[in-house]
Amino acid sequence: MKTEGGSTDAKRDAGERAAEEAEDGFVVGLGTGSTTAHAIRALGRAVDDGLEIRGIPTSFQSRELALEVGVPLTELDAVDGVDLAIDGADQVVDDPDVTAHGALIKGGGGAHAREKLVDAAADRFIVVADPSKLSDRLERPVPLEVRPDAHTVVAERIRELDGEPTLRDAERKDGPVVTDNGNLILDCAFGPIDDPDALATRLSGIPGVVEHGLFVGLADATYVGTEGSVEVRR
Ligand code: 5RP
Repeated sequence: MKTEGGSTDAKRDAGERAAEEAEDGFVVGLGTGSTTAHAIRALGRAVDDGLEIRGIPTSFQSRELALEVGVPLTELDAVDGVDLAIDGADQVVDDPDVTAHGALIKGGGGAHAREKLVDAAADRFIVVADPSKLSDRLERPVPLEVRPDAHTVVAERIRELDGEPTLRDAERKDGPVVTDNGNLILDCAFGPIDDPDALATRLSGIPGVVEHGLFVGLADATYVGTEGSVEVRR
């Protein structure tokens, strides 16, 4: 089955395979999005079958799903560590010959601030994706979570970096998209990003930016569903 932005079957294969990495006693970071949702449902079934884990949700959406499928929840500040995080991505650099291999753009769901917190805290961070997410370089717009009172000044700084910022509104009539943290999202197009690490440093330095969607050097592996099997890329 095909949906916009990738195959549902491929997403399911990737999510379910990643969920198999959870072991008894694990604290598991629960990412956000349609691919990770397959992992959360699979973890719920494993819990029904006796697996003892606790999940840390990265968004309202993943928290609701985890509660629905029976994954016991905890908080980042209530645990000694996170054993495993499973999370999706909007774009993944898949070229072992370049320094940026494994770098991600995240934040399609506007949850990247909490996702980065949880994914970075994990001993092992597995990205789950379908093949449409793989690319030889990052080129999608980078989501920036910004304080509401900062969105115009941050947009100006992005233009100074030759980026093109767009306030995310998802065509809502009642105003812009508001994150779980009460902030706004600027989707910033920079064209092809040759050095994600350098851009990440610049974006982090802009006052008013809560978090950007570049994840550099965080992922340990990408599980790519390929309709019937899963390829593990490291
Ligand atoms: C949310 C994200 C998602 O992981 C990303 O948008 C991928 O989503 P999907 O698995 O639905 O394609 O970063 O902030």
